[in-house]
Amino acid sequence: MDLIKEIHEVMKEHPGRLSHIMGVMEESIRLAEHYDLDVEKAKTIALLHDVAKKTGHCTMKALMIQGGYDIREHEKLWHAYVGEYLALTKYGVSDEEILKAIKWHPTGHPEMTELQKVLFVADITERNTRKFKDSEIMRELSYQSLNEAVAYKLQYMINGPIRMHEHTYAMWDKYKEYYKEVTYD
Ligand SMILES: [Fe+2]
Repeated sequence: MDLIKEIHEVMKEHPGRLSHIMGVMEESIRLAEHYDLDVEKAKTIALLHDVAKKTGHCTMKALMIQGGYDIREHEKLWHAYVGEYLALTKYGVSDEEILKAIKWHPTGHPEMTELQKVLFVADITERNTRKFKDSEIMRELSYQSLNEAVAYKLQYMINGPIRMHEHTYAMWDKYKEYYKEVTYD
């Protein structure tokens, strides 16, 4: 299956989301090449990470139940669970590293691998739709040290007004030593 074509089809009515996904793919490829990681895997992860993002509420709920996920989880996270489920059942992905990259991408997770961290970072540093100062800082950091970019993103998430998932705090605990304050005007 040509996954790029498939994502264009799934997102044909959502040009903004499509542009984001393509941006994540390009940035993930760049990062994977930079860190000598599996580029094909990075590409698959990026293409599928938001595949369920535009699924309607009822279908999403049905797929959450079908996949055995907990519907008490925050609704903002459902696309990641359903994304993992669709990757497995519809797109034939059995690689656990890819599946967990999709599942964990909105919250982070302390056990993330290098490739999973690539998505976690590229999701906010892609160049098509993420054009704010903090994303530029993270992009710059990401080519010096993936862990520093991860720590910066976690700090950014935790300092926001919303209470984060327990995985986010657990990941922060593990990565906070990499946090570097960056001053800018
Ligand atoms: Fe995304």
